[in-house]
Amino acid sequence: MMSILPHSSPCRRFCGSAALSAVLLAASFGALNTPLLAPIAHAQTAAATSSADPWWKHAVIYEIYPRSYQDSNGDGIGDLNGITSRLGYLQHLGIDAIWIAPMYPSPQVDTGYDISNYEAVDPTYGTLADMQRLITEGQQHHVRVILDMVLNHTSDKDPWFVEAASSRTDPKHDWYCWNDGIPANSPGVTDYQKKNEQTGLDGKKVVPPNNWVSGFGGSAWQWVPAVHQFYYHEFFKQQPDLNWRNPAVEKAMFDSMRFWLDKGVAGFRLDAIPNLFEDPQLRNNPVLGGVNRNGDPKVGDKYTNNLPEVHDVIRRMRAMVASYPGDRVLIGETYLPSTSELDVWYGGAAHNELQLPMDMLVGFHGDHDKLDATTFRKHIEEVETQVHGSQPLIVFDNHDNKRAIDRYGDGVHDDLINKLLATVLFTTKDTALMYYGEELGMHTTPQPKRSMDVPPGVPKPDGRDGERTPMQWTAGPQAGFSTNPHTWLPVAPDFKSVNVATESKDPNSELSWFEQIIALRRDNAAIRNGNVTMLDTSNPSVLSYVRTTDSGPAVVVATNFTATPQTVTLNLAGSGVNGSTVKTLAADDPSLKSISTLKNVTLPPYTSWVASVQ
Ligand code: GLC
Ligand code: CA
Repeated sequence: MMSILPHSSPCRRFCGSAALSAVLLAASFGALNTPLLAPIAHAQTAAATSSADPWWKHAVIYEIYPRSYQDSNGDGIGDLNGITSRLGYLQHLGIDAIWIAPMYPSPQVDTGYDISNYEAVDPTYGTLADMQRLITEGQQHHVRVILDMVLNHTSDKDPWFVEAASSRTDPKHDWYCWNDGIPANSPGVTDYQKKNEQTGLDGKKVVPPNNWVSGFGGSAWQWVPAVHQFYYHEFFKQQPDLNWRNPAVEKAMFDSMRFWLDKGVAGFRLDAIPNLFEDPQLRNNPVLGGVNRNGDPKVGDKYTNNLPEVHDVIRRMRAMVASYPGDRVLIGETYLPSTSELDVWYGGAAHNELQLPMDMLVGFHGDHDKLDATTFRKHIEEVETQVHGSQPLIVFDNHDNKRAIDRYGDGVHDDLINKLLATVLFTTKDTALMYYGEELGMHTTPQPKRSMDVPPGVPKPDGRDGERTPMQWTAGPQAGFSTNPHTWLPVAPDFKSVNVATESKDPNSELSWFEQIIALRRDNAAIRNGNVTMLDTSNPSVLSYVRTTDSGPAVVVATNFTATPQTVTLNLAGSGVNGSTVKTLAADDPSLKSISTLKNVTLPPYTSWVASVQ
């Protein structure tokens, strides 16, 4: 999933009616996001039930990379108090919940995804009291706090692992996935396994038991001389996988989740959740031939990913979380090959697993992200109709991939393409997940080196630093991110024009578009709740659909996925809508503002148009 794009220079093209945008902007200032949150329970209340229409069904969830959002104490690194200071901005933008990437104590080998204490805050980011204040002030701003929960592995510096690796008889030893290795001369042992040859307890040569490779490069097996055993790690070797076949692991992790639920977090984003279990027989993964991007033999993940055992854990976790009031939510990092696989993560017809496993098929197409209306239509329709009525969660951007504006942008119409992706994200019936800076059109800025010192063993730079640069607040020093010129990653060079202060003054900016469309999603009954019917379904260039509801006018959305003007006639016959006169609610080209019928509507390149039907 990791890739680096050469830095493309931002093209900012502003068009559209300032007057309309200004009205919508004013409307979004006035309105409240959501009703006040239910009071937070500080202790578990048994048998709380979930509402028929939980908040997360309509939510806009905003991912924050805490290191990069706002520095409050001048050390060049973002922190929790920095996030708290920006709650007003988030509320104004219309954000219902923030998901904060790991802020727990960590050696930062994988920038926080290597946790060494699940029930504390890394001093770099603040204190537990700061977190409690963020949660409480978040409530006042109608912004819920969702934490990242890394269950597949801990840091190798976590006291659990330190104990586990100290002796085979340590009570925590079996909390991780150990193996003695197999004789180096066993049949079928590959040269790759032989490169990791060690001396076993009996003095004989041993190699890792199979061909599993780490997703982050190298063998997935790391030798520990003290115990004469290998341990398994899906990610960096500093991230040993936990042994979820040991019930003590589940208990410890659920306890940590309760620790935060008791503090009032609204739920969790479950990191790498399909990776929890590995094949107990340790069978070789299928050999695919050739080498992968890390130079390791290319093998599949049949025996290391998405094993059925994980679902028992998830069902128990769902029941545990459901015992808290307030519709706490479980979101999954679920890169899966098909919608039918995704449905399993909801619990299928039983609806008893994750409320919101991420759909990665609409927004991420591997290395071939392409604005293709047919592909988008297919994936959106699938996830809306083939998950037993569960709620889809779509996402285009995160901290692991080149930013969507660079994956989908053409370097010429990037601002319009970013607005188009936002239109799709916020006007379907799906729950929307966005990434900080997406609302500004922040670009991926590949990093030749990190600015601040990183701990030993950290890949320098991490290939994903480009999408993790500091948030761009102003055109001033360090883009308003920090008072310290030595920020952990440099501020992206386009910050003078791509920043909150500048864009909020421009009714045609990407930020103003995000505000308008999020406000529509909140205030317009059809967009908030309506059914979806795809229109003009054989059109390869324009994605269009109508949202219908009993409680207000229908809304038509049309987006031109190409660099040439497209003329469409949208026929609502099959959608049960009678009207044919339309009124533009939002459009990013002036020519679309005064359209009054659905016949022969010409959409300029990459434009988006949202209109109500009278
Ligand atoms: C997830 C995270 C990623 C991390 C990995 C290992 O994919 O999103 O950033 O490196 O898990 O925890
Ligand atoms: Ca700081």
